Amino acid sequence: MENRKHAVMETILHRRSIRRFAPEQVREEELQQILQQILQAGLYAPSAGGRQGPIFVVSQDRAVNVRLGRIKRANSHPRMATASSYVSREQPSIADDPGITDAFYGAPTVITLFGPKNFLFAAEDCAVAAENMMLAADALGVGSCYIGQGWPAFDDPFGQETLGRWGIPADYYAVMQLLLGYPKADDAHPTPKPRKEGRILRV
Ligand SMILES: Cc1cc2nc3c(=O)[nH]c(=O)nc-3n(C[C@H](O)[C@H](O)[C@H](O)COP(=O)(O)O)c2cc1C
Repeated sequence: MENRKHAVMETILHRRSIRRFAPEQVREEELQQILQQILQAGLYAPSAGGRQGPIFVVSQDRAVNVRLGRIKRANSHPRMATASSYVSREQPSIADDPGITDAFYGAPTVITLFGPKNFLFAAEDCAVAAENMMLAADALGVGSCYIGQGWPAFDDPFGQETLGRWGIPADYYAVMQLLLGYPKADDAHPTPKPRKEGRILRV
C-alpha cells in the first residue's frame, strides 16, 4: 500500500502538459497496448450518478487531426502571452505563440471526449476521465495535453462531416480533446510553475 501511494503521488507531481511531440509515430503494437491502458484509465474514472456518459473517440489519422486542430485554432481567440504572463515557456501553447497554427500541436493521437448535451455533469465527467488518462499516460511515459472546449474543432463543414463519419449521436457534443504522444527526445521534462499561495483555507 505504501509503495502504491508513493507511485501515485510521484505520477501526480510529475505529470506536465506536453505540446512538443516527437514527429515519428510510436511502434504500432506498442502504441496500441499503451493506448488501451490509457483508455481503460478513462473508462474507470468516476462519473456523475455512475452513468458513464463520456464517449472517447480516438483519432490517429494525422491528416484529420491536423485539420481539426487548425479549425480549432482558427476558432480560438486566445489571450496572447506577455513577458510576465505566459502558459509555458518550455512547451508553448497557442496563447504563447501566435505562430502555432494547429491547436493540437501535431499530436499523433487525439482523443475527443464527447458528453451528452442535456446532462448537467457532462463536462465534469469528461474532465475527470481526462485526468485519469493523463496520469496513466505519464506513468507509461507518454506525454499528454488537455485541450478545453472541444466543439470549435468541428465548427465548419469538414468538422461536421467528420462528426457524421465518426457516427457521433446528435445529442452529444465535444467537451474537450486529450492529446497524446511521446515528448520530443531532446526536450527536458517541463518544470511546474510555483504553486500560488493562499489557495487552501483550513477552516
Ligand atoms: C480546463 C483546461 C483547459 C485547457 N485548455 C488548453 C488548451 O486549449 N490548450 C493548451 O495548450 N493547454 C490547455 N490546457 C493545459 C493547461 O495550459 C496546463 O494544464 C497548465 O498550463 C498547467 O501546466 P501543466 O499541465 O504542465 O501543469 C488546459 C487545461 C485545463 C485544465
